[in-house]
Amino acid sequence: MRVAVFSTKPYDIESLSAADERAGHAHDLVFLEARLTKETVPLAAGCDAVCAFVNDDLSAPVLDGLHAAGVQLVALRSAGFNHVDLGTAARLGITVARVPGYSPHAVAEHAAGLILALNRKIHRAYTRVRENNFALTGLLGFDLHGRTVGVVGTGRIGAVFARIMIGFGCRVVATDPYPDDGCQRLGVEYLELDDLLPQADIISLHCPLTPETYHLIDRAALARMRPGVMLINTSRGALIDTAAVIEGLKRGAIGYLGLDVYEEEADLFFEDLSDQVVRDDVFARLLTFHNVLITGHQGFFTTEALTDIADTTIRNLSAFERNEDHLHRVDPSSRT
Ligand code: NAI
Repeated sequence: MRVAVFSTKPYDIESLSAADERAGHAHDLVFLEARLTKETVPLAAGCDAVCAFVNDDLSAPVLDGLHAAGVQLVALRSAGFNHVDLGTAARLGITVARVPGYSPHAVAEHAAGLILALNRKIHRAYTRVRENNFALTGLLGFDLHGRTVGVVGTGRIGAVFARIMIGFGCRVVATDPYPDDGCQRLGVEYLELDDLLPQADIISLHCPLTPETYHLIDRAALARMRPGVMLINTSRGALIDTAAVIEGLKRGAIGYLGLDVYEEEADLFFEDLSDQVVRDDVFARLLTFHNVLITGHQGFFTTEALTDIADTTIRNLSAFERNEDHLHRVDPSSRT
């Protein structure tokens, strides 16, 4: 199958080419650096499928263009599919597939990394020591042991994250409409979100972005949290109302903020913009806080996860081509 692979970086080319080689050079992969947008749709001409990542545009006008170009399959290199207009895809007869279960450890461990770095101020210590400043003032942290961690969403990633935090000796409380048996056996206590928020010293978001979870963390949610709470988001940017969180940081209501995702990340993340000025004032404001640590959507970025993503993507392409039933198809009625 001829596949236009959008938003490719060198590591995508490497991992997808290797996976295709393992599958016996099953597909003709056309690697494109460009992000998929209405303007770049013509690059998919002559392709049966497009392979897209989290910041590619898969709204109705783009899907219309892809359909007109003869594309029948959108193979996502991600677990999340909130950026796809599933209704339009279904109407046009375009199948959407995704990578549901790649290494959940990658994101869960990254969330734990943000917590450790923010708590012990490792990012600040790193720059201090390089300037021969060995003073400890301002670097005081707290023991994670004995603290309460609130996990919002205990699916694949949240459940691994909960286990990691139990390993640190934390009390873990969680909220999820479908509690996880394994977590419950480890002693995770399930609560409603409203009851979890006032109990947690650290809150980590691991639920998908849906109409119900859009701005889940808004002014009202922030008002229920413990003063000085640590908030971690490695899931999707729009789970958090960024303006409300900035107010919370200014008031000191939020003591620490760790982000791997950002509401308006599509224009920023995955690119080297170091010779440009940041035009996003909200993002620029976030960067001014010493207690905010932001990474550019790298939670998934481990060797193991990239290999899983590439292998599953190639398998999805082959399954679609051969009409096999192990295609990881996104149900058109899924809520995004
Ligand atoms: P999953 O589908 O296994 O788990 C999501 C869990 O959230 C489910 O148990 C679901 O019942 C629960 N949930 C749904 N609505 C909820 C709500 N309102 N409150 C609490 N829980 C709710 O998904 P997985 O694989 O664990 O991924 C979670 C999210 O992580 C993805 O949706 C994606 O947005 C994000 N992600 C981020 C990556 C990164 O690089 N930073 C990479 C991969 C995923």
